[in-house]
Amino acid sequence: MSEKVAIILAAGISSRMNTKLPKVLHEVCGRPMLAYVIDACRQAGVQKLYIIVGYGKEQVIEYFKDDKKIVWVEQKEQKGTGHAVLCCKKYLADFTGDTLVICGDMPLIRGEIVKTLIEKHQKETSAATLATAILDEPTGYGRIIRDSYGNIQGIVEEGDCTGQQKTIKEVNPSYYCFKNKILFEALDKIKPDNVKKEYYLTDALHLIIKAGHKVVAVTAVAAEDAIGVNSRQHLSEAGKIMQRRIQEGFMKSGVTIVDPPNTWIDARTQIGQDSVIEPFTYIHGQVKIGQNCRVGPFAYLRDGAVLEDKVVLGVFTEVKNIHLKAGSVVNSEDVKQRYNKGAEK
Ligand code: UD1
Ligand code: MG
Repeated sequence: MSEKVAIILAAGISSRMNTKLPKVLHEVCGRPMLAYVIDACRQAGVQKLYIIVGYGKEQVIEYFKDDKKIVWVEQKEQKGTGHAVLCCKKYLADFTGDTLVICGDMPLIRGEIVKTLIEKHQKETSAATLATAILDEPTGYGRIIRDSYGNIQGIVEEGDCTGQQKTIKEVNPSYYCFKNKILFEALDKIKPDNVKKEYYLTDALHLIIKAGHKVVAVTAVAAEDAIGVNSRQHLSEAGKIMQRRIQEGFMKSGVTIVDPPNTWIDARTQIGQDSVIEPFTYIHGQVKIGQNCRVGPFAYLRDGAVLEDKVVLGVFTEVKNIHLKAGSVVNSEDVKQRYNKGAEK
């Protein structure tokens, strides 16, 4: 099996989000989007990551400063996704393995799909392999163009699509695996001949196909996992889906969530078996709840709250930086008087 590295694109300015914060630091259920993308690469067995940063790079690097395996690569001017990948040339020009390329604005990405993509790429010994998705509402995404035999011919961006191409529902969620040498040869040749006047990564794919190399597109990404966050609306949609995933994970591990749509749980929270989360509970930050606890209704748990086993945290309680010993029963009056000071019960 050949060596693998990943390039994650995170330099964009994100005018559509109308934000000063780098897009990839916007949070989905308490974690920045980029954190989920990093996790997915690692879960798929890719350890060496090159992350392209530009707009707000100091903030992004600061957030992930403890992760020593990341190589930060600067893209000084944001000239498009193809140009962003090309910024890694000085590190990867001689690399003979496979390079995964993924956008940092896809928090719903799943490690197992990235793994499937890599496996398919290696099994087919293709020059490039991409995972595609079928969307009922494909607006905004690059469309996958196939010939009458189903072979991929290229990707056309929304702004460059003809009326007929806009009706195509198979889209590019931006999960690619390339033979590294072939990728960089193609990137050297791309030109900003498009509506946005940008260097598109998708054009490199087109050149690879034109050169006669084998390119495989697998429809492997579920529609709801394909969201690329380009606006605040997308961010809220991604948050909702992620929240459902988090809650499903807890329910599978034996936690009762009485009213899932009226409960919000941060991705960084831990909850033990047979605990019950009553409606209108909001859990934000690093919170640890033991086994057989009962939380809520109308409870607000904030960063640093630790509940040992069999704790009851009653109605209208708000706790932060608190350690509640096993078996404690806490109501809203107790919280007001004693527990918000970081006291131990
Ligand atoms: C891109 C794809 C599109 C796909 C969609 C999926 C291209 C040309 N288009 O479009 O086919 O359907 O993702 O979500 O690749 N970035 C940089 N430097 C740049 C430009 C962008 O690092 O110069 C980063 C952004 O920070 C972002 C990612 O690349 O994380 C994607 O850029 P974005 O502008 O969101 O591309 P889309 O228009 O979504
Ligand atoms: Mg995007």
